Amino acid sequence: MAVLGIESSAHTFGVGIAMDGNILSNEKEMYRIGKGGMIPNKVAEFHIDNAAGVIDRALEEASIALREIECIGYTKGPGMGPCLQVGELTAKMLAARLRVPIVPVNHGIGHIEIARHFAGQNDPVVLYVSGGNSQILKIDARPYRHYKVLGETMDIGIGNMFDTFARGIGLDPAWGSTVEKAAQNGGYVELPYTVKGMDFSFTGLLTQALRLSGSVGREDLCFSLREISFSMLCETTERALMLTDSSELCVCGGVAQSQRLREMLGLVAKEHGASFGFAPNEFNADNGGMIAFVAERMHRGNYHVPIERCGILQRYRIEEAVVFG
Ligand code: FE2
Repeated sequence: MAVLGIESSAHTFGVGIAMDGNILSNEKEMYRIGKGGMIPNKVAEFHIDNAAGVIDRALEEASIALREIECIGYTKGPGMGPCLQVGELTAKMLAARLRVPIVPVNHGIGHIEIARHFAGQNDPVVLYVSGGNSQILKIDARPYRHYKVLGETMDIGIGNMFDTFARGIGLDPAWGSTVEKAAQNGGYVELPYTVKGMDFSFTGLLTQALRLSGSVGREDLCFSLREISFSMLCETTERALMLTDSSELCVCGGVAQSQRLREMLGLVAKEHGASFGFAPNEFNADNGGMIAFVAERMHRGNYHVPIERCGILQRYRIEEAVVFG
């Protein structure tokens, strides 16, 4: 059962092919962000230009012919409208051409389920951290199987905070890794730490770090921004672990690529006797493989949507999506 999945919610146009719960290929092209950030129409144009090439590469890598594809999955949301539309229309064209069913996938579910798969976990507390999202979640079976949000950012996503800070001090905003690199030799500077129950906030921290950028060294600010924001995530995640009495913890999303965050969360899990897991880095960044993986499960569950009712939802909340498997 070969399923092709398309991801296009933000900077990445990705295509993956899943079969029998395995990912056979995971190809992508990524839009490089300039000083002005992401302009949705420009990114959408980039996706249009790259769609055919990435699909071809994914098929070739998987050694699958297009006619062997039995179902098409695509990211319905959340994300930027023009970008999501490119994936949606590509999926519709392929599904119509091949006369196969189509399934719309929630982007966050893609990140979480692929991490849960690689971690080999059943019912973990999940920390989902990316540019636009920062949430703590756990599966809830009622009224339908879905991810319940236990805690989340009260303002911006943590990745967004790192990128805005990097841009603000004249560094290349390379998905937080710039801050991570600059943090290596830094020391501690006091910055706002904002946690409320299992929720957290990053804007006060960002504003103060930017304000101090003229008088405090760059390395110290990067170090402190990273350590303080990750500590906020660890405190709230630990609270969720304790309250749910869970024996599993996993981290997913673009920021889950951070070695330091994994190290800190690993210690939290160890303290509580919980297992700790995450996906390989290529599946933490946005990718089509995770969409194909979830789409195959939805396909098996017969969760198809008639092509004329397929659309996009820029603010598709994770709780609204039914979880299969
Ligand atoms: Fe993402």
